[in-house]
Amino acid sequence: MNKASNAKRRQLVVGNWKMNGSLQENAGLLASITAGWQGNTDVVICPPFPYLQQVCELLKNTPIMLGAQTVSEHDKGAFTGEISASMLTDLNCKFVIIGHNERRRMQHESDEQIVHKFIAVQKAGLIPILCVGESLQDREQGRHLETINRQLNAVFAHTGKDVFENAVLAYEPVWAVGTGKTALPEQAEEVHRFMRSQLGRLAEEVRILYGGSVKAHNAQQLFALPDIDGALLGGASLNAEEFLAICKAAD
Ligand code: 13P
Repeated sequence: MNKASNAKRRQLVVGNWKMNGSLQENAGLLASITAGWQGNTDVVICPPFPYLQQVCELLKNTPIMLGAQTVSEHDKGAFTGEISASMLTDLNCKFVIIGHNERRRMQHESDEQIVHKFIAVQKAGLIPILCVGESLQDREQGRHLETINRQLNAVFAHTGKDVFENAVLAYEPVWAVGTGKTALPEQAEEVHRFMRSQLGRLAEEVRILYGGSVKAHNAQQLFALPDIDGALLGGASLNAEEFLAICKAAD
């Protein structure tokens, strides 16, 4: 079955605001996005934690969904500064980004910790967006698929593959994030195909997003590829015009 005829692989565009925004900026950005968006693509916005409540309010009665950028692997307790998955459900979140390369690198999140976050997210009834991706060095040494395989298997080993029925995958090559250097279509497609081939019976059912310098001018070309089901956006999600153009390209 190709992706266009597969309802489970409806296109998905996720805006990861990272550590950007203010009450005022968010209100302006979301006013333009909500006024300008209608379509069949699923659209998700992941603001910083302090703005979840604000964004939750502003997205009410719109088709746009709310997500979070990370979560604690613990249910509750003495974990200063952490946020639990059940707190995210209180705020009407539907998705949680897990294993983003900025957290793997800067917060030293391990494969093991990421698995526990993944499990906590699903236990709360939320949908994890599990990010994987190789470094520039891995890519230059031809070890990119090996890295992706390790990151995926760290999760599969604990959870099995069937739980991906309620999960999204994202391929974000570290060297393409925030660099303006997008993966070539053939590079992205090779990895997406590989990831899909690792999913067992769900191979043709799971949505796999591409992330890394996706902009309005290159989105169409990426979305045309058979194994790409949408995008995980950083910079482009902070500009209403750019964001809407990408959502429309996905549609
Ligand atoms: P950029 O789109 O800014 O490269 O960021 C991608 C990303 O990290 C989304 O999670």
